[in-house]
Amino acid sequence: MKLSSLSSSLKGFKRSGHAVVGIDIGSYSIKLLELAVTNKGVVLKKAGRALVPRGAVEDGLIADHKALAGVLMALLANLQPSIKRTATSISGYSVIVKKIVVPYDDDKDIAENLDIEAENYVPFELTDVYLDFYKLGSIETEQNGSEIFLVAAKREIVDGYAALLQDTGLSPSIVDIDAFALGNAFERAKGVTDKPVCLVDIGANKTNLNIIRNGAPLLAKDIVMGGSQLTEAIKDATGLKFEEAEKIKISGSKDMGVMGKVSGVVNEICSQWGVEIKKIMEFHQANSAEYDWPERIFLSGGSSLIKGIEKKFSDETGLDAFIFNPFKDVVFDKAIDPEYIFSIAPQMAISFGLALRSA
Ligand SMILES: Nc1ncnc2c1ncn2[C@@H]1O[C@H](COP(=O)(O)OP(=O)(O)OP(=O)(O)O)[C@@H](O)[C@H]1O
Ligand SMILES: [Mg+2]
Repeated sequence: MKLSSLSSSLKGFKRSGHAVVGIDIGSYSIKLLELAVTNKGVVLKKAGRALVPRGAVEDGLIADHKALAGVLMALLANLQPSIKRTATSISGYSVIVKKIVVPYDDDKDIAENLDIEAENYVPFELTDVYLDFYKLGSIETEQNGSEIFLVAAKREIVDGYAALLQDTGLSPSIVDIDAFALGNAFERAKGVTDKPVCLVDIGANKTNLNIIRNGAPLLAKDIVMGGSQLTEAIKDATGLKFEEAEKIKISGSKDMGVMGKVSGVVNEICSQWGVEIKKIMEFHQANSAEYDWPERIFLSGGSSLIKGIEKKFSDETGLDAFIFNPFKDVVFDKAIDPEYIFSIAPQMAISFGLALRSA
């Protein structure tokens, strides 16, 4: 995959003119979404998800290509998207997203000198990574300069995703960053505002955080926390197997004794997550002006489906917390079952941001 494909995706809200299918490949589920922009607004054409076998995606890396290709093929057969071009996204340990200042203002100069700048910030051999940047703005000093998000992604990761898509007959067109796709989704659904908001997408093994204001990311970060951690804690508290603990976490149990333990664990872990976000917020506040401090948090990802999670986040952080529904103002195609889609809406947030890249 060419570096330009990563680059084109990082130009924020802009469209390349070609519609793409958004495919969010997580360690728990693959989410697929196709949109169409019409004079009635954004139309949801196709949407669905398929579960990924445990261990097939590890630390953002495809560990079991064959198993994952099988899951994606089945999802494609089921949903039958009408386009082959795709936008997908990556994050995790092997993807570095860092805000830095560079002594260039012109995009071309930044691109040409990116590897020199990256030397200081990327803990991998530069020959092993794709580099890119997202320009935040010019710095007003005597010398030219600008503030950018430097993005470095291990080639191994990007190439692995591209190979997976190709092997299932798709065409990998855009590789985005999870946190940026989330920001894109939010701005399309809620509008661009100068009031900063903190977006938190809690998956199974990681959480993508993006604080945005006026269409630009202020702090984009991945955190090692997610729903698997909660399932593990339920497993430990009840003595059940992981799969059983997972089922009870999602659907509950008639056994009141078990449910008592489960709700205790859910409370504890959700509070821990809230505390973690609070710490990041404090770090952000120490490093930014007050107009960049969010008063609202929007939760998405499969683990935002935990009942009452927004209240926990609100209690721990002191900010107003909400669940993000990307489909609030979207028109549904006839083929879409609204009840099903609304039940998984927050989990589809990143795939929505991806499908918007050029839809
Ligand atoms: N109704 C529900 N209630 C509670 N938790 C849920 C519910 N539905 C899904 N989850 C949890 O959400 C997590 C999966 O969310 P999601 O599909 O967003 O993850 P992912 O994107 O595949 O994972 P990651 O991004 O961490 O690799 C799992 O831990 C799952 O148990
Ligand atoms: Mg995810």
